[in-house]
Amino acid sequence: MRVIAIINQKGGCGKTTVAVNLAAAFRELGRKVLLVDLDPQAHASLALGVTADEVETTIHDLLTDPRVKTADAAAKLDGGLSIIPSSPVLSAFEQELAGKPGRESRLLAKLSRNPGDYDYVVIDSPPSVGLLTFNALMASGEVVIPVDPSYFSVQGLGKLNETLALLERETKHAMTVHVLMSNVERRTAFSRDVIAEVERAHGTRMLKTIICHSVRYKEAAYRGTPIFGMKRVDHLREEFLALARELESHGPSLAIENVDEWMVRLHGPRRVAEGILFVFNAPNARNVYLTGEFTGWSSEGIRMEKDEHTGLWKAVLHLEPGEYEYRFIVDGVWIKDPDNTDSVLNEFGQENSLLIV
Ligand SMILES: Nc1ncnc2c1ncn2[C@@H]1O[C@H](COP(=O)(O)OP(=O)(O)OP(=O)(O)O)[C@@H](O)[C@H]1O
Ligand SMILES: [Mg+2]
Repeated sequence: MRVIAIINQKGGCGKTTVAVNLAAAFRELGRKVLLVDLDPQAHASLALGVTADEVETTIHDLLTDPRVKTADAAAKLDGGLSIIPSSPVLSAFEQELAGKPGRESRLLAKLSRNPGDYDYVVIDSPPSVGLLTFNALMASGEVVIPVDPSYFSVQGLGKLNETLALLERETKHAMTVHVLMSNVERRTAFSRDVIAEVERAHGTRMLKTIICHSVRYKEAAYRGTPIFGMKRVDHLREEFLALARELESHGPSLAIENVDEWMVRLHGPRRVAEGILFVFNAPNARNVYLTGEFTGWSSEGIRMEKDEHTGLWKAVLHLEPGEYEYRFIVDGVWIKDPDNTDSVLNEFGQENSLLIV
């Protein structure tokens, strides 16, 4: 599964237009595609004719409710494209999760634990660098930055470079970054100048495909369909198919199944061949035990083994499907799993970590 985030802090540069039509283009190529609308404006959802009040679950539920899995939150549209829609409640996400550990890797946690059956996940993000954009980036191996030819885009390029460097540092994984010229009126001298300037700044990162300006893209969004649902737009279909093929030809930079760097950051329990792997990072602890509903909350718990190279304590359990609350006992102190974002309050008012198998 390849996860591609469409980002740019500049508003109105074509992120949503690119996200919706790129997802649809991958679908046209016969791939299984999930579009994730991570923008509280919900423009991608609207552009596909989906509104929050028509669906049972939205991206806000996926990010905040431990019981909701990726595929459960997705609505399947005619033509086979799946979408996890957004809604305005998503704008409260940043405040809701203030101070919570792992808040920037909620989407990654969902996609990696319950990926669903998708070849591509395309994420539309809001025009800001906040918690939602961080979630998009943490979950992605590839980033597409649409740049429209405008004075502000050129001004913003330096800033964009700084932001990307910051994001790579913060997310601690290498992302392949592609710059895409979008909403381009090719004939104007100004467009050509801007493209040349972007090329000077981002030469190696620029995609060959250019998305042109056409009122038909606006019309398609208004009608709640990708460009592929419109008549007499062959040249526009072709440019998005070319974009999909070009990205596909680059090959995956990081596929979500094999990103050890991400997984080390995401120590919450995960499925491995032998069962469910629990990991706790404590190089200096003398002993670590795992206890929970599966041991009847025994204070002896299950002894975890320390990996001397990494300082990670590990235990693998065979668990039947169900929900399990658990905690670690670290040198005699009971604590919740700091790397698992899912937790519930117990009768003592403390948090137990929650695992759903
Ligand atoms: N290639 C294009 N041709 C014509 N209009 C376009 C094109 N791309 C985008 N637009 C129009 O420009 C406006 C902004 O585009 P879009 O919503 O895709 O940008 P955005 O970056 O997602 O915006 P925001 O930052 O608000 O999320 C929309 O009205 C859209 O229809
Ligand atoms: Mg948008």
